[in-house]
Amino acid sequence: MKSMQSGEGNSKDSRGKYHIKTFGCQMNVADSERMEALLRDYGMESCETPEQADVIVVNGCSVREKPVHKAISALGTYQSFKSGSTRKNPKGPIIALGGCVGQLEKDRLFKKAPYLDFVFGPDAIDELPEMIDLAKRGERHFVNVEFDRKRSYSTETRIHRRKAQAFVNIMKGCDKFCTYCIVPFTRGREKSRTIDEVVDDVASLVAQGVREITLLGQNVNSFGKGNENVKNRKPLQLSNIIGPVGPKPGQENFPQLLRAIDEDPRCASLKRIRFTSSHPLDFSDELIDCYASQEDGGVQRLAKQLHLPVQSGSNRILRKMGRHHQVENYVDQMERLKTLCPEVGLMTDLIVGFPTETEEDFEQTLKLLDRLEYDQVFAFAYSPRPGTRAAKLEDDVPEAVKRRRLNQLIDHQKKISERINQRRVGQSLEVLVEGLSKSQHILEKKLEKKKDSEQSRSTHSQSRVWQGRTECGRIVNFIADVPRDLTGRFEQVEILEGSALALSGILKVQIGEPLGAAL
Ligand code: SAM
Ligand code: SF4
Ligand code: F3S
Repeated sequence: MKSMQSGEGNSKDSRGKYHIKTFGCQMNVADSERMEALLRDYGMESCETPEQADVIVVNGCSVREKPVHKAISALGTYQSFKSGSTRKNPKGPIIALGGCVGQLEKDRLFKKAPYLDFVFGPDAIDELPEMIDLAKRGERHFVNVEFDRKRSYSTETRIHRRKAQAFVNIMKGCDKFCTYCIVPFTRGREKSRTIDEVVDDVASLVAQGVREITLLGQNVNSFGKGNENVKNRKPLQLSNIIGPVGPKPGQENFPQLLRAIDEDPRCASLKRIRFTSSHPLDFSDELIDCYASQEDGGVQRLAKQLHLPVQSGSNRILRKMGRHHQVENYVDQMERLKTLCPEVGLMTDLIVGFPTETEEDFEQTLKLLDRLEYDQVFAFAYSPRPGTRAAKLEDDVPEAVKRRRLNQLIDHQKKISERINQRRVGQSLEVLVEGLSKSQHILEKKLEKKKDSEQSRSTHSQSRVWQGRTECGRIVNFIADVPRDLTGRFEQVEILEGSALALSGILKVQIGEPLGAAL
């Protein structure tokens, strides 16, 4: 596959349309964006609906059974496009399966889904145009799932349109092998880019207009493992980490990377640095120090938000999950962080119904939520993944119990999130606007509350509801009575309401003006 040549002398605009359907985490979202950039360079254009496409790619996730089924059933819906096609390619579109589902399924789906043309894994993305060429030449049912065996990892972020936010892969793979998790099998071993390469990459994104970056990896705080610290950057080593699994003294590390981005003059107009995900094992004191105020030596642009998956509030279950951390270490880390940065927004991942989980274990998880007051949690019912160590354990928590615990946990957290969000009412928060909100009805509702709504409607003909995110990661829907597109702008929003899911408010400059009265 490595020797394939892309391009057959076609002119730039003759290569048709693509449609990419993405499932899974931000890594898959970033991978799909990379595929788009590659396909545009190759001379293709995107299309809204798969019916119009000449190439359809399903970028699948296999972290639980449900997303795998979603990817396979998406493929099933594309089957009918293969026959009776009216587009210029009478054989219908080329259909490909990629991502973590592609990596695991390999050639297994060709029998069940003969209309599928080829399968590829996350390490083969850069060869997508070549694979399409091969399929156009009539090659079918080929598989490209070889892991990149090089020790180092080098890449460049590709975005295909001007925008304020970008994902930046800083490492790939995972070496943690939590007993339930398929990711180490779909993404291979951990490898990090160098600090210099990532900083150059971020600087180039900033020059293209990006103002917020999210550094991506399965365990970004073990970034740097294996990269020699040739520039003697500080901190030279990480302290108070729970397990000796991350970078060693003399190697690059994640706090060094954050500081290098923050201090690079080319990144001066970058406003926020986020990162996801991280693991409690290598969540060091030096990383916590990055959250201090700038006067106290913190990283100025680091967003006051942390997503640190804990998975369970029971040490017995954590042991069985192979997490190698304990609830007490984790709580210590979070309390140190909250002391240094009280306004930090915390998020976590939780699994309910792991084999042998009792009501008592589950209660301990609920207690942990009360103790740490997360802004948001991502909770999942345990789903056995073939080939993992946990899959050898009996999946002994009945599905109905898993569902009940999941709903109970979600309800419990909703009350906490609502409480936290209500504390934000009256504050003025900076929001990076992501686009028009799907909740335009908020505006209607607010306007209906006003007695002379007809007059109000005509006064606020330009009012629209926008959606954005605060530094601490909360979604904000806000009304703005301005004609211009706010997408990609940082705006101050006065928070007027807080619910479990989001905050709502009004653009700050509007306060006191007629629209304020409508609320
Ligand atoms: N690397 C991150 C970490 O260490 O937590 C995220 C990994 S995974 C892509 C995202 C989340 O999916 C995990 O944090 C976990 O809560 C959940 N997850 C992973 N495997 C699962 C499984 N077999 N069943 C249910 N949830 C699972
Ligand atoms: Fe999966 Fe654990 Fe690696 Fe996260 S750290 S990707 S949960 S194996
Ligand atoms: Fe899914 Fe792969 Fe991400 S399994 S969660 S798409 S790393």
